[in-house]
Amino acid sequence: MSAARQVVQRILAGREFQANGTAKAYAPANIALVKYWGKRDEALNLPVTGSLSISLGPLGSHVELARAESAGDRVWLNGQPLPADSSFARRASAFLDLFRPAKDFGFALKARNTVPTAAGFASSASGFAALAKAADGLFGWGLAARELSILARLGSGSAARSLADGFVEWQAGTAADGLDSFAERLDAEWPELRVGAVVLCSDEKPVGSREGMKRSVETCEFYREWPGRVARDLAALKTAIAKKNFAALGEVAEGNALAMHALMAATLPPIVYALPETVAAMRTIWTAREAGLALWFTMDAGPNVKLLFEAKDESRVREIFPAVEVVAPFG
Ligand code: PMV
Repeated sequence: MSAARQVVQRILAGREFQANGTAKAYAPANIALVKYWGKRDEALNLPVTGSLSISLGPLGSHVELARAESAGDRVWLNGQPLPADSSFARRASAFLDLFRPAKDFGFALKARNTVPTAAGFASSASGFAALAKAADGLFGWGLAARELSILARLGSGSAARSLADGFVEWQAGTAADGLDSFAERLDAEWPELRVGAVVLCSDEKPVGSREGMKRSVETCEFYREWPGRVARDLAALKTAIAKKNFAALGEVAEGNALAMHALMAATLPPIVYALPETVAAMRTIWTAREAGLALWFTMDAGPNVKLLFEAKDESRVREIFPAVEVVAPFG
């Protein structure tokens, strides 16, 4: 039995696999302010460090899960039936294998993303989190949020952070089975906070995060500095959130993203996601900041930047980036 399936059995602790009707679930996408880059266990998506994200409220994934009439999964995405060999259907089926009661049990999965696919926000985190919740609903397990976070992590690491709204911290944990590696909401609200997606290129990324982080852990000689950096950034970010100090939040988030991209660049073979347009956008942000605008950015494993600002500055930000897609994570 795979290590992931063993974890699922441990979490389910003898609960049954009796499918009932259709289960519906929703989970928000999230964007990390202190990033996860590097695993201590590849099979269980256990991270080397903790991370802290903000959930994107109404941008996320809705799923409906039921038992299919026959063996083999049926998967729809945004209203379209997908061929079983499409990458989305294959990833979904591989995750659903963890919960499949018998080989001839097929799932019918309908997924709908409200994360605009072209907005540069990943929908895999919200997708796996919603799927874990839907499996819980379909089989009537009644799992707790931290158990659902562990299950979602088995699909994709960052999915562990998509079970809650607001600011969410994912603990790295130390246990070999990862039962102490789950994410939870911080007790904090920040209604004025805005996240803006600036799409510079929507091509598929050249190196996926799984491959990229493995390569960094194995070959980047600065990787040993990363856990210490993340620990300092997590502490500083939590203080910034507690004090609602926006400049401090922006500084930590931007610095942490740039440090992650520096690790990537010092990986062998090097991984550079930035395009000329990405560097130009960074310079535009820095120039605006020098002129007094409280604007920072973060970036994931791709060339697009996500702006961080407060509601009062939205019109100035839109003047600079007319195509920005703005999200209010706290509604
Ligand atoms: O969960 P994955 O395998 O998609 O990795 C996410 C990695 C980053 O987006 C770059 C950082 C993060 O913490 O979300």
